Amino acid sequence: MKQSKLQTLSWSDYLMYETNGVMPISGFSQHAIDDGRADWMARDLEDKSLWSFTLTQEQKSTLDTAFANAKATKLSIQELSRENFPLVDMAPLFERIQFELEQGRGLFLLRGFPVDAYSKADLRYMYVGFCQHLGVAVSQSSGGDYIGDVRNFNVDVNSRNGRAYTSKQRLTFHSDQADVVGLLVLRTAKFGGLSKLASALAVRNEIARTRPDLLEVLHQPFCWSWQGQQPTGASEWYRQPIYTECEGRFSSYYIRTHIISAQRYEDVPRLTVQQIEAMDLIDALAGSEKFHLSMMFETSDLQFLNNHVILHSRTAFEDYEEDDRKRHLLRIWLSVPNSRPLHEGMHTLFQDRRPGAVRGGFPSRDGRQVFETTVSVT
Ligand SMILES: [Fe+2]
Repeated sequence: MKQSKLQTLSWSDYLMYETNGVMPISGFSQHAIDDGRADWMARDLEDKSLWSFTLTQEQKSTLDTAFANAKATKLSIQELSRENFPLVDMAPLFERIQFELEQGRGLFLLRGFPVDAYSKADLRYMYVGFCQHLGVAVSQSSGGDYIGDVRNFNVDVNSRNGRAYTSKQRLTFHSDQADVVGLLVLRTAKFGGLSKLASALAVRNEIARTRPDLLEVLHQPFCWSWQGQQPTGASEWYRQPIYTECEGRFSSYYIRTHIISAQRYEDVPRLTVQQIEAMDLIDALAGSEKFHLSMMFETSDLQFLNNHVILHSRTAFEDYEEDDRKRHLLRIWLSVPNSRPLHEGMHTLFQDRRPGAVRGGFPSRDGRQVFETTVSVT
């Protein structure tokens, strides 16, 4: 453990220094962190059976029954719960997914969700009911989006309040603002849209081995844009490190476009050469074939990722002409009961840092819950 004169300072004390991010923050390992299978390279994922599963016919029937019963009792999508959308014989599967996300490789791919058997509206309902068994959904925007429609709304990722998931552009390696992200694939693209995943822990450990100076930089605060999603009355930007550790558990939180976006604010310190170098190194490592897994989605895939240990990206895509054939994914953000504790530096975004807490996301400003992204997110 590095000794530093700031070692005993709290995060809020640290922020008082206003130092352009050159001082070290307290307590992080200088060496590679051993967190089991979360530290993986592409070659470690060659055996797909280790991290994926196809729903059986019996499980699909259970899902059909839960859906039919919930609909018959006229439950709204907001009212769905584990109790009124029972999937009892799938409990071992949910336990496996939760375990793989938090104690395993940080990812899980479920195949065979009955996408072709239901309308898009019914699939939203079924998806929310299904995910009740994994965790609690949190809002993805200040407008209260609980399902984000990942499709091309012709939004510029680099615009002031641009949200990457509403564009068709290439997305660089990043994490989402919640413990877990789920993506249900309704339609795939005509071309492109390749999903890429890298272990943020493997990237971090490589940096610890090769550039410990930059590891320290990544534990210092960066300035982030809220992309217009800040809580009412809050500043348009906030400080947060990219890497943190808490009680021996690592967390990576990285969206380069939001850090670059914050540079538009005059009161935000300019990025240092070292900060840029550190982000370049994350991008280069995650972008190398040794580190990342490439996966072409298929209709009916449901991908879950633990954002604390997985970086994800996507290649640009081109849609079919017909509306009903355009690439369309349903995104959900979840707090899960077995999540890790988070460092004080993550407080602004996650609020509640206790393990298993309902936390993260962008809180709905007026309490609304929306289950379809109908317009460009601002
Ligand atoms: Fe994302």
